[in-house]
Amino acid sequence: MKEKIISKIKSKDAVVGIIGMGYVGLPLAREFLKKEFTVLGFDIDEKKVKSLNKGKSYIKHIKDNFLEEFVIKKKLFSATTDFSRLKEVDHILICVPTPLDDHYNPDLSYVIDSTEVVAKNLKKGHVVVLESTTYPGTTEEVMLPILESNGEKVGKDFYLGYSPEREDPGNLEFETGDIPKVMSAITKDGIEILEALYGEIVEVVSVSNPKIAEAAKILENTYRAVNIAMVNELKIVFERMGIDVWEVIEAASTKPFGFKPFYPGPGLGGHCIPIDPFYLSWKAKEHDINTHFIELAGEINSRMPYYVTDKLLRVLNEKGIPLKKAKILIVGVAYKENVDDMRESPALKVMEILSHEGCKLNYYDSYVPELPRTRKYDFDLKSVNISKAKDNSYDAALILTNHSNVDYKIVLKKAKVIIDTRNAMKIKGLKKGKVYKA
Ligand SMILES: NC(=O)c1ccc[n+]([C@@H]2O[C@H](COP(=O)([O-])OP(=O)(O)OC[C@H]3O[C@@H](n4cnc5c(N)ncnc54)[C@H](O)[C@@H]3O)[C@@H](O)[C@H]2O)c1
Repeated sequence: MKEKIISKIKSKDAVVGIIGMGYVGLPLAREFLKKEFTVLGFDIDEKKVKSLNKGKSYIKHIKDNFLEEFVIKKKLFSATTDFSRLKEVDHILICVPTPLDDHYNPDLSYVIDSTEVVAKNLKKGHVVVLESTTYPGTTEEVMLPILESNGEKVGKDFYLGYSPEREDPGNLEFETGDIPKVMSAITKDGIEILEALYGEIVEVVSVSNPKIAEAAKILENTYRAVNIAMVNELKIVFERMGIDVWEVIEAASTKPFGFKPFYPGPGLGGHCIPIDPFYLSWKAKEHDINTHFIELAGEINSRMPYYVTDKLLRVLNEKGIPLKKAKILIVGVAYKENVDDMRESPALKVMEILSHEGCKLNYYDSYVPELPRTRKYDFDLKSVNISKAKDNSYDAALILTNHSNVDYKIVLKKAKVIIDTRNAMKIKGLKKGKVYKA
């Protein structure tokens, strides 16, 4: 069976099914399409499926042109909400969300739902791979029992593996196909099949079992969360000492070995770094271990929005402007630069704190023309056109995301003071008392 599957991959006759057509699933589809595989995308969101079938991307940094080429001209890609069509595909790559619940426990419901649907439609020789970030053990302890529940056996009737996505949305330096991909499977044959499949689109790093691959992804994200927490803490320490943390990081970065720069900010955002480490914390408790670094990093990073608003309060106080009723412009609401992704964005927390204080808020972010309602927040706001605002009409502008398309000279004109959390105001000859880093 293995040889047959691999030869179908090599001849590009294998059909790739991707469950979850989001920030991860869509770029992954693009890589297989570029290599002329037929790809069928599955999603529960009818709106997304309709838009994809018209050749329209609903994600700003993923351009329509690749979809137009593969949906309309080459007819290699289509999307569907009909999961019985899983029978039409040879490989099933699962890229669904893995959020936390309200108590910071892993919410595997999306992975479980998808696996159950796969189990219902399992056919002989299916290759199933989880791509979503999760705790070590998910593939074997959660997915495998579901897939074997109808009597089929892994390695005999189907294959099961794990390969974490390393997507970095908005990063123009790397596309999915440029990033080596860690992967493993439950059986030796499964590993060989995944090496052949992913080897068609990326450099493959194969490891001995799925737990290693799951743990590697969590290590990568925990490493970021902890290091960002460290520079966030150092920012506060250095500020008290009158030292600019940004200049310190720049200086330290000249060391050619043993140092990698991380940058402070208004808090952590996105679907990964603030969330994934807590998957490990939860699992570690099963082994009677508390993950102190993860907890501490979470505590420091989640305090950052309050640090920013405290700084704003102090700066406005110095200028004799009460925070209550102050008119504030938020510059950048996406969780990071040059993307339209709002998930877990610290800007929302900052805005919540300020609106509780009674501030009048506007925001400017061309990537997010309207603030979407989220589980926690519901601001009824649209991005303003800052060029139209009168000079100094805002008491303060808070730079929370440094999109590269912002004209910071205009921002400078429109507000009495600027609080810059991203070191974005790199304008020469700034008047003292106008721009503050936070
Ligand atoms: N966004 C990133 O930069 C990134 C990077 C690396 C890893 N990841 C991980 O990849 C996974 C997916 O993240 P994402 O950012 O692509 O999420 P997303 O929300 O952008 O996309 C998930 C998609 O899955 C769909 N979906 C939800 N439940 C479904 C179901 N039962 N069946 C079919 N489709 C379903 C949603 O409608 C959505 O389109 C997560 O585990 C995340 O942690 C994300």
